[in-house]
Amino acid sequence: MSDVSKPLIVVAGATSKQGRSVVTSLLDSGRFRVRALTRSADSVQAKSLAEMGAQVVTVPLEPGHQREFVRAFGSADGAFLMTPPVAPPSTDEFVLGCQLADAAVEAGVGHIVFSALENVEERASGTKYAPHFTDKALVAEHIRTLPIGHTIVMLSFFYTNALEYYPPRIEGDKVLMPFYLPEDFRAPFVDPLTATGPAVLEVFSDPGAYLGAVLPIVGDVISPREMVDAFSRVTGLEAEYRSAYSREDLLTYFPELGENPLLVDETLGMVEYAVEYGYFGNGRDLEWSRRIDPGALSWEQFLRRYDWRGERLSFGA
Ligand SMILES: NC(=O)c1ccc[n+]([C@@H]2O[C@H](COP(=O)([O-])OP(=O)(O)OC[C@H]3O[C@@H](n4cnc5c(N)ncnc54)[C@H](OP(=O)(O)O)[C@@H]3O)[C@@H](O)[C@H]2O)c1
Repeated sequence: MSDVSKPLIVVAGATSKQGRSVVTSLLDSGRFRVRALTRSADSVQAKSLAEMGAQVVTVPLEPGHQREFVRAFGSADGAFLMTPPVAPPSTDEFVLGCQLADAAVEAGVGHIVFSALENVEERASGTKYAPHFTDKALVAEHIRTLPIGHTIVMLSFFYTNALEYYPPRIEGDKVLMPFYLPEDFRAPFVDPLTATGPAVLEVFSDPGAYLGAVLPIVGDVISPREMVDAFSRVTGLEAEYRSAYSREDLLTYFPELGENPLLVDETLGMVEYAVEYGYFGNGRDLEWSRRIDPGALSWEQFLRRYDWRGERLSFGA
């Protein structure tokens, strides 16, 4: 297939963990061209996407750049849309998600894949505060009204959270692992860096088969106790679970969160929602992503692959 005859997919947030995975899978398949959107073409991550063969285009991933979005989506066959992390009280995420989708429609993109989450407000009848879930669900609702082919993917809790945002505390030769979930509660987790791409590649390989579908992306369904046991097994280090599943416990291990009380409310709202209502809505197919990507990493495989021994790591751009 000559290069210009390959479908062109635009990836918004291309340097994000999700975005990099998508760009890598699409280019590795040899079947797609990729236009990678970033705030800065000079970053290490953006340069590495360019080296892989992506066309890197500078666009700020924030509301208010509608004309630039439309231009960036020009002549694309598909687009992967994601929203960067935002801390409450910002509601930018809803506005940005809708503007990206509207721009894709205006540019005549054939099919969009949006990275969303469940509507916590609705599922928990307003009892749990998790706007970074609900805002994505509202963007997905908006997308459903648009004249464009679309598929929604939903990522599980990231394994990388424990490395990037909630790292262990090392005390002597013991690794204390604070989790924002009860010790024996099994939740869906995933490696966004390797699991997002195969799922999105599958959708763009046969978009007609996934019109309107909502597809969870899961690597493992596992409890903190099992995660700590696997960590000890893989590293040979002595490790213990610590609860960060209450305001007091969360702030004991991560006092910096206290600078934004709404972020604490949101973190607790999210995890209480996951425990009381389930992270994914009833009837979601939790096996789909592992069927189409049997190489999806379990937590234990993730630990072996990244050779992680409890230190804080950053996967950011
Ligand atoms: N953590 C979880 O467990 C989890 C689970 C499911 C879903 N999610 C969702 O996944 C999304 C984050 O995805 P990710 O972790 O793959 O992203 P990420 O690695 O944090 O990267 C975010 C990207 O967005 C761009 N960006 C634009 N404006 C930004 C800003 N103001 N702050 C930070 N980055 C900005 C940056 O790219 P440039 O600098 O190149 O523009 C950056 O590479 C969030 O919406 C989150 O709610 C998270």
